[in-house]
Amino acid sequence: MDILDVKNLSVTFDTPDGDVHAVRDVSFRLGAGKTLAIVGESGSGKSQTAFGILGLLPKNGHASGSVRYMGEEILNLPEAEMNKYRANKIAMIFQDPMTSLNPYMRISKQLTEVLVYHKGMGKREALRESIRMLEAVRIPDAASRVHMYPHEFSGGMRQRVMIAMSLLCGPKLLIADEPTTALDVTVQAEIIDVLIDLQEDLGMAIILITHDMAIVAGTCEDTLVMFGGNVMEYRPTIDLFETPQHPYTKGLLEAVPRLDRDVKTLSTVSYGFLEGDEK
Ligand SMILES: Nc1ncnc2c1ncn2[C@@H]1O[C@H](COP(=O)(O)OP(=O)(O)OP(=O)(O)O)[C@@H](O)[C@H]1O
Ligand SMILES: [Mg+2]
Repeated sequence: MDILDVKNLSVTFDTPDGDVHAVRDVSFRLGAGKTLAIVGESGSGKSQTAFGILGLLPKNGHASGSVRYMGEEILNLPEAEMNKYRANKIAMIFQDPMTSLNPYMRISKQLTEVLVYHKGMGKREALRESIRMLEAVRIPDAASRVHMYPHEFSGGMRQRVMIAMSLLCGPKLLIADEPTTALDVTVQAEIIDVLIDLQEDLGMAIILITHDMAIVAGTCEDTLVMFGGNVMEYRPTIDLFETPQHPYTKGLLEAVPRLDRDVKTLSTVSYGFLEGDEK
């Protein structure tokens, strides 16, 4: 069964100037352990698609269509019902880690609270599990650093803490909205590497929202290209790179470094599945 089955998802905002159709009729499916890229220019509706799925739209926003998580309809569930899905089954990480971490609270407290609240763990077990998760995202010396405050970590390390926090409950789906945009290129590659490793361990599906087509090429089986709230293309990544259909997609791909020449220097991520087809 698919982890996620989205059909005709639309997101509309009421504004003083009338309705804004931020997302129109977006449909896609995502199997266990698979990764879908959502790409498109700024304002094309990528984040609102994610927020619509998770019921995180602002008051003037409204979602319609269907979102099934392992067969169950979750679109527009009441807040209390939706909270059972968030973090536990579907996790999300945002672009700026500081918006999701509390600057006044030690990392240990922020992580253990999630486990105490969602998993009913005792404090000691929760701390042990938190340290294990920090080690899984490759934070050196996790057992002592867990007691630090967010500002004591670098940007890249904070994003790792965010990933650790979002994956504590073992979600089956992770929605990562530009998780590396604020970071420099080598750190970006490391973070993606960490995510892909964890994905294999946890068998989790990932929706990766990104501007970086090199990362898409290396990590995502399917790609959905958005433009002006609409889906332009939704195809296996390998096909999209070979025969982009839409002029917008062609433009997008022209801006990407050549896969056979430049990409390896950008990232430590394996680009094997595309390289096999490059002559
Ligand atoms: N509260 C709101 N009221 C009205 N329109 C909104 C609101 N929030 C978002 N929008 C509109 O929704 C559209 C899609 O925005 P969205 O944030 O999904 O873009 P995006 O593809 O994630 O862009 P970026 O790459 O910059 O993050 C934009 O045109 C934006 O103006
Ligand atoms: Mg966005």
